[in-house]
Amino acid sequence: MSKVYLNGEFLPIDEAKISVLDRGFIFGDGVYEVIPVYGSRLFRGSHHLQRLINGLKAIRITNPLSDIEWIKILEKLIQQNGGGDQSLYLQVTRGIAPRDHRFPEPISPTIFAMSTPLTEADLDKQTGISAVTLEDNRWLRCNIKSISLLPNILLKQQAYDAEGGEALLLRNGFVTEGASSNIIVLKDDTLITPPKSEHLLPGITRDLVIELCHTHNIPYELRAIPQAELFEADEVWVTSSTKEIIPIISIDKHAVGDGRVGNGWRKISQLYREYKQSFREGRAE
Ligand code: PDD
Repeated sequence: MSKVYLNGEFLPIDEAKISVLDRGFIFGDGVYEVIPVYGSRLFRGSHHLQRLINGLKAIRITNPLSDIEWIKILEKLIQQNGGGDQSLYLQVTRGIAPRDHRFPEPISPTIFAMSTPLTEADLDKQTGISAVTLEDNRWLRCNIKSISLLPNILLKQQAYDAEGGEALLLRNGFVTEGASSNIIVLKDDTLITPPKSEHLLPGITRDLVIELCHTHNIPYELRAIPQAELFEADEVWVTSSTKEIIPIISIDKHAVGDGRVGNGWRKISQLYREYKQSFREGRAE
């Protein structure tokens, strides 16, 4: 039985209970992180922690713990679940109070973390996935990793219903990101991804890919991507922490490039793998 952390305690998952008045349950009033763990260590841990802290600030929840306390909890949870490679989920809600939209008088936030074994999404990577474009009908604060994911869930399901593995979201004719991923387009050996804004989540995987471009002198541009460029791209990829870099081989039933996983993806994936290996050997964060 996997162990979870809930408000100071480590418990078997079926013994962890929260109040029905928790504002996370009632309003979706909270933020979360999904952090990969390789060799029992948090991959890009400080980046995830910083995004969590930014999210708490953005929704006006006082950060209840110091950085060291956060890390201690997560590291203990990793150990309690046997170490190795895991996907760690961490959520902080505003806490328990009678239902009222207004913020309650200061209350203790609810802190919850769980972990599942991490297996690589190899098949998706080898074969690539298809995607569909959909109107980005989310709010204007998509840079907050909010637990209120109803729009993302509906968009994702709409993509699945149309036999797509991801929804690529369009706002005013420009692609923002995927329903649960960031987007990167490759054209003439240059990577292109939209700059950070309130229209997309500042993805940790996206940031690492940009960092790898920087280190290895691979040309990249941070700029808005018009819808038409999706269909003219040599390659299109989506990124997220646990799935890493996934090639998109068709969009709205049109082949991307030659409709197969491309060499650009092979190159960046190799660099990503090498980075992970250096992390496992303690040479990278
Ligand atoms: N989601 N954009 C959205 C809307 C996302 O939900 C995610 C990740 C990303 C990629 O961010 P990162 O590289 O930091 O994982 C971008 C996670 C993994 C989820 O909700 O399960």
